[in-house]
Amino acid sequence: MIQINTTEKQQHRKLFVTWAITFLILFPVLILLGMLMRIKQGEIIDISMSKFYSFMTLHGLGMAGVLFSIALASLSYLLGTRYSKISVSLGYYVYYGVVIGVVGLVIGTLIGEFGAGWYMLYPLPFKGAYWTDWSLGVSFFSILILGVAWLIQCLHILNSIAKQYGGFKNILGWQYLGKSEPAQELPSIILISAVSVLASVFAVLAGAVMDILFLMQYFEPSLELDPLMMKNIIFFFGHTIVNATMYIGIAWLYAILPEFTGRDWKITKVVAIAWNATFFFILFAYLHHLYMDFVQPLALQYVGQMASYFSSVPATAVTMFGVIGQLYRSKVGWSMVPVMFLLGVAGWAIGGFAAVVDSTIAVNRALHNTLWVPAHFHTYMLMGIVLIIFAFLYYIGANENKDNDIEPGWGFKTFVTGSYGFLLMFYLGGLFSIPRRFSDYAGIDTQVIHETGALLAKIAVVFITFILIGLASMYSTLIKKLLQSLKFQA
Ligand code: HEM
Repeated sequence: MIQINTTEKQQHRKLFVTWAITFLILFPVLILLGMLMRIKQGEIIDISMSKFYSFMTLHGLGMAGVLFSIALASLSYLLGTRYSKISVSLGYYVYYGVVIGVVGLVIGTLIGEFGAGWYMLYPLPFKGAYWTDWSLGVSFFSILILGVAWLIQCLHILNSIAKQYGGFKNILGWQYLGKSEPAQELPSIILISAVSVLASVFAVLAGAVMDILFLMQYFEPSLELDPLMMKNIIFFFGHTIVNATMYIGIAWLYAILPEFTGRDWKITKVVAIAWNATFFFILFAYLHHLYMDFVQPLALQYVGQMASYFSSVPATAVTMFGVIGQLYRSKVGWSMVPVMFLLGVAGWAIGGFAAVVDSTIAVNRALHNTLWVPAHFHTYMLMGIVLIIFAFLYYIGANENKDNDIEPGWGFKTFVTGSYGFLLMFYLGGLFSIPRRFSDYAGIDTQVIHETGALLAKIAVVFITFILIGLASMYSTLIKKLLQSLKFQA
């Protein structure tokens, strides 16, 4: 633990609240894009196909990027005010880098109509597409700026905690693997930050390689890249970064929930092994996205199957039992922060379970590229990490004091009900074989699929309206509290 003075803490707080307000503006805007996609799929209003795919691209890249950014910002705040020295001025450079990257992506997608999806499956961005040529360059450069900003912050975090806690091996908790107890206790947030931020570094580096290859092809159109290699790199990047976002959130869960329950949540040998194992398996779990690629070496398909099962068990099981151990018969008051943590972990488990179902090769043959896929990742993003991020925002809004935390109101309940309703429509879509990434279902010859897909999308629009109403109500108090939190005195 470190001690910092009030002025330093105020600087950290100001940077964090800047991030928080930016997130709170971008989040509903990206939801609106999602809503427009469901409106088109539900045949309520006709939106051109090119608009649909540029919305989908901005929505997917934007949501994943914004959530990763706010997760890094939250972690940096907590580490910098309590555990190790984190630079605020560097934090502003990272912030401006992310803002420039986001503005570039908005221009590339909404004006240039770049619409190759977040995964930009090679050679789709370059071959016979309807989007403008310049939109490719702008989008690739913007992603590069985002990647550089994230990489700088990740390396800074790793360097800072390694310096404070006795080196790299120590922050990964390896001192717990021996027979004797370690001489100095490691806070659990440090272990989980190390694992998740290190995984993020690998992911961002892969993303940078992908992006630079795309830029090379952009400037030299005669270049031919290997589509299978590109798909492996892209999915390694995408799968790892969203998982790392979730784990970063879990890092502050381990630090903050004990303040509400009054119980310690320490690292043990099992916890250290679980998080190290998760780090290892998560790097290979992305392979389940390539089951349908018959040219992928067969051995990698088996590796993907096993890594998907194993990656989902250790950290999840240890965290679930940890949360139960924290809450069971504790005298926790059910205010916003612990409720959001509990529901967030539940969403992580539900979405994670649906993901494991889909990552089973035999099941994947039926569910691949149906709406089951967005169903599972939207569950652990929207009802998992988003809730855990909101828990952190409310915690800061309460000035890091559990006695200032507010009760969950109708707005929050409406948000959760709307979200699960919206997710249910995706799951039902998966079960009825409705394909994903279709701008609408009118071109599907099988009438029942067309009609069911459109009906489920229409109902989803009603639930998304609940989500937006719930959020508006939550925002009315949260933004006020966040702004008030800037005036704190130590
Ligand atoms: C209420 C909130 C949300 C709504 C209404 C929404 C809506 C949608 C829709 C309609 C699609 C297209 C589904 C299809 O394949 O047919 C989609 C895709 C996607 N969404 Fe969301 N979404 C929401 C929240 C989120 C969140 C929190 C994330 C966080 C990462 C996210 C990330 C994505 C991604 C990565 C895709 C895939 C894009 C692609 O295939 O390129 N969404 N969303």
